[in-house]
Amino acid sequence: MNQRFCTSQNIFCTAYGTPKYHNHFNLCDMERKLKFNMGDELSGRREQEKPPLTDGFGRRISYLRVSVTDRCNLRCWYCMPGQASWMPKNDVLSYEELQRVISAAAGIGISKIRLTGGEPLLRSGLCSFVRRVVETPGVREVTLTTNGVLLPRYATELKASGLERVNISIDTMDARQYEIITRGGCLGDVIAGIDAAIAAGFQRVKLNAVLRRDADMDDIRSLVEFSKSKGAVMRFIELMPLLRSESRITECWDSNFVSAQEMKARLTGINLDHVEFISPVSEPFCDTCNRLRLTPDGMLLACLCRGGHVNAREILRSGGGDEELAQALERCASLKPEPWRAWGETTRLERISAIGG
Ligand code: 5AD
Ligand code: SF4
Repeated sequence: MNQRFCTSQNIFCTAYGTPKYHNHFNLCDMERKLKFNMGDELSGRREQEKPPLTDGFGRRISYLRVSVTDRCNLRCWYCMPGQASWMPKNDVLSYEELQRVISAAAGIGISKIRLTGGEPLLRSGLCSFVRRVVETPGVREVTLTTNGVLLPRYATELKASGLERVNISIDTMDARQYEIITRGGCLGDVIAGIDAAIAAGFQRVKLNAVLRRDADMDDIRSLVEFSKSKGAVMRFIELMPLLRSESRITECWDSNFVSAQEMKARLTGINLDHVEFISPVSEPFCDTCNRLRLTPDGMLLACLCRGGHVNAREILRSGGGDEELAQALERCASLKPEPWRAWGETTRLERISAIGG
């Protein structure tokens, strides 16, 4: 059955502008309206529909994380060095170029787009870009990962642009700790950002905190309580031994890593209904990985830590067409490595801010 138009759970509709999900009970109604509006076009599109994009291990690829910039207004210790250097401006894809890759992806069944960075809101014109992505045929959901600092300025416009959800990074409720972790950030800014997102009407706001061994348990409890009081989901994420610029974070990873399981055990007696633990290191979820990544300079990555990449920028800037972009995405999917059960040596040479957190 055609996924874009009809699934047992929901139906996607672009007939009225902004994408909306409709539950199964509206399905016949919606199909009638679509047929009425589009006539034979609907059945034509059904025939043209390609099989879903899958990798060599049978994983269905439906999700593209797009890093729109490697720049950030913070310098979290686990993400980048204090003295960061940025990609040459000319290498960074324009919004038009990003949009072309996203359209090609949507054309082969990638329906979820997450915009990340660096800090995506540092890039001017992001709200208009969100609207364009939302309106791309085949895109069902556009979400954003942000450090929240600029949300007071942009939350309302992002919501109006059709952005579905936001994930906001907040590692601590202690202002001094926040300043240390982010090398200079102000906790009040991110809290104002969370409030702005909620006031703008975002539902299911998710708060991300990277776990570290020396975290104060009272502080972790404060995060749990704070997220509860805001009606947000709290996500504790294991520290990954990725690269921070030229040096591996590994030197400080050993002493800072704490497993999600251990942290959960330390939180017994606390209501954790709204808390999620993400364990990329202790329990890799590669067997269900459904994503590809696009870096700001136009590299399509098969995996956060391993696997190859495909240079989409070269295709874009040498006059390549949509079909070539679709083939590049398919090639990238085919490079996704075998699911792994344990964290190995990371092979990537980029910082996570350059990949997309
Ligand atoms: N380990 C785990 N998560 C990381 N992030 C960045 N670096 C790391 C790392 N080394 C994630 C954080 C942050 C997002 C932008 O990227 O969740 O909130
Ligand atoms: Fe910026 Fe996020 Fe990296 Fe922190 S983790 S430096 S907020 S991109």
